[in-house]
Amino acid sequence: MAKKITVIGAGHVGEVCAQRLAEQELCEEVVLIDIVEGIPQGKGLDQWQSAPVEGFDTRVSGSNGYGPAEGSDLFIVTAGIARKPGMSRDDLLRTNAGIVRSVGREIARVAPEAVVIVVSNPLDVMAGVMKEATGFPRERVVGMAGVLDTARFRAFIAMELDVSVQDIQALVLGGHGDTMVPLASYASVSGIPLTQLMEPDRLQAVVQRTRDGGAEIVAHLKTGSAYYAPSAAAVQMAAAIVRNQRRILPAAAYLEGEYGQEGIYLGVPCKLGAGGILEIVQVDLTEGEQAALAKSADHVRATKAALAED
Ligand code: APR
Repeated sequence: MAKKITVIGAGHVGEVCAQRLAEQELCEEVVLIDIVEGIPQGKGLDQWQSAPVEGFDTRVSGSNGYGPAEGSDLFIVTAGIARKPGMSRDDLLRTNAGIVRSVGREIARVAPEAVVIVVSNPLDVMAGVMKEATGFPRERVVGMAGVLDTARFRAFIAMELDVSVQDIQALVLGGHGDTMVPLASYASVSGIPLTQLMEPDRLQAVVQRTRDGGAEIVAHLKTGSAYYAPSAAAVQMAAAIVRNQRRILPAAAYLEGEYGQEGIYLGVPCKLGAGGILEIVQVDLTEGEQAALAKSADHVRATKAALAED
């Protein structure tokens, strides 16, 4: 069992991450950090008081400083502002870049050997900011998007076909945004290709709903963005890493030539285990999928360039 996992940002995503980590007993200790005085302390203590009822032994505590995070095995970074209706993830760029940069420097100071899972948006660019701020190798800075986008794809397929989500395998690659690439050719239900089970127009509608999955939640909530599925996704990645499960999950990785891309984070299948990304898995793509992935990469590159102009 890992000793310590620290969650940065005790807002919606962060608090549910902490709760899931503790309830799944993924580590001995969960530390919740936020800049707002009292919030991480109060939420941490409240969660720890649920331990006798839920039956977990993972200690949860909160702090405004990084002292308690010292020596953490893993960080989940959710600090930043969330989307409101009418905002794209890219609208969060400048504010969240400043926050993620400062968080990254603190992580490198108190836990230079840690693995970092970035959740703050715009995800692919924020993962790059984190890598730069920590100076960590690419294996140890990974972005959470693909597991979430794939979960949304699987949930919508299950609704459409009226089957269990557990039998659905799928893969969503690319940047976390409108240009994401749900791979219909790799989706299956108990091994049966999805293309045999769903009419092309219905499949297209499911793909589009997946792309708009985050915005659909923002439109409902009005005051913020999704957090149950994002936290579940981040914690599944954390479990793969701290339990050395060697799971192949889609995640944002820093590419150095894979999929024809270089110098950016992009969602690709990764083998996750002890130490972070063990391998970037290359899969065959159709021409259309390749073109969509290249377009998605261009979008990430443009967002990154917009940040560099400041
Ligand atoms: N250090 C630590 N925490 C910070 C910092 C900082 N420098 N700056 C802001 N925070 C905290 C805020 O105080 C707030 O409690 O980050 C938290 C963010 O929580 P929410 O506003 O509830 O946002 P949330 O829904 O959790 O989303 C967080 O994840 O999914 C992404 O797009 C989303 O970028 C957003 C992030």
